Amino acid sequence: MFLNWATCPRPIIALSPMADMTDSAFCRVVRLVAQHNPEPAQASRRVTEESSHQVIIFREMVSAEAVVRDNEKTLGMTAIHDDERPLVQQLFGSNPNTMAEAARIIEAQHRPEGFDINMGCPVYKIVHNFNGAALMREPKLASEIVRAMKSAITVPLSVKIRSGWSNPRECFEFAHVLEEAGADLITVHGRTKSQGYSGKSDWNLIGELAKTLSIPLLANGDAHTAPLAIDALKTTGAAGVMIARGALGNPWIFSHINDLLAGCAPTPVTNEERVRVIKLHLRYHLEQYGERGVTTFRKHLSWYFRGVPGAKPFKERLHTSCSANEVLQILDEFSPSSLPS
Ligand SMILES: Cc1cc2nc3c(=O)[nH]c(=O)nc-3n(C[C@H](O)[C@H](O)[C@H](O)COP(=O)(O)O)c2cc1C
Repeated sequence: MFLNWATCPRPIIALSPMADMTDSAFCRVVRLVAQHNPEPAQASRRVTEESSHQVIIFREMVSAEAVVRDNEKTLGMTAIHDDERPLVQQLFGSNPNTMAEAARIIEAQHRPEGFDINMGCPVYKIVHNFNGAALMREPKLASEIVRAMKSAITVPLSVKIRSGWSNPRECFEFAHVLEEAGADLITVHGRTKSQGYSGKSDWNLIGELAKTLSIPLLANGDAHTAPLAIDALKTTGAAGVMIARGALGNPWIFSHINDLLAGCAPTPVTNEERVRVIKLHLRYHLEQYGERGVTTFRKHLSWYFRGVPGAKPFKERLHTSCSANEVLQILDEFSPSSLPS
């Protein structure tokens, strides 16, 4: 599978990288739910696979240092199931040679369709080592990283940034540095590093920046629902939109965006469909992590049942259940119609 940011169909719809969330299991679910209509009765209203915009999956960040040190767990995180493709692997790090070598190793082993560099993460344990958003204060180093990685890989390279470190207009100069260094696409989360998650992602600013670049730009931040994703596309005029928190517990958001782009009203998710997808996700999660996955899956269960009417008592029980069978039984009680007939 080949990914070309310059020519891939517009608007580009992407799943944002999220540490501890966009692992292989979740990415498989997103791809399958986005592309396969699970309810034949609604087929005529839903857009078909051929006419829909393919979701581009961005995998959670991994440490370039750990890859180069041959850390088994980190390398395992970069394995790709064919269901997930096209997939972009994100790396973080601040040493150009290490970043290039890590990308070369991952490309040789797993052949992702693209690489992304994390230059937007505001978390202390990342920025204090000059990683993530700290690179926005080091444009020369950022440019060296892009150049080194470009010469080490054969697939497109993108960069994910914030609007700035503390000044939201820093992205204008910084994005041009990245473009000149050879980045093929930039994603902008329209908040500064100092803002963290406070305030709002500035879609007007993202739109202003998009107009000044010749490479495509993805708008990120606060597109939490399908209608908001359409608004983000309209307001920014960007080549595409990247969705993070809006996809947690809601892999349907991508087919809903496709429905809206095709002029159809999205079909609400039934309890039966919710349980069907949770079971699928649990199965993939356990395949990836083994029985300890019952505990690590709880964070996904919280998202799947967030705001769902009547789910509270089931949620409480799900959070204390210790085996996959127990989880499945509670899910069947929540939606008896999802039991096999
Ligand atoms: C749990 C979580 C983990 C995240 N991990 C990453 C990451 O690995 N790499 C990255 O570039 N951004 C990461 N982000 C930031 C998101 O990709 C995204 O930029 C941000 O949440 C804004 O988008 P949203 O409003 O659609 O959530 C993470 C966000 C969350 C909530």
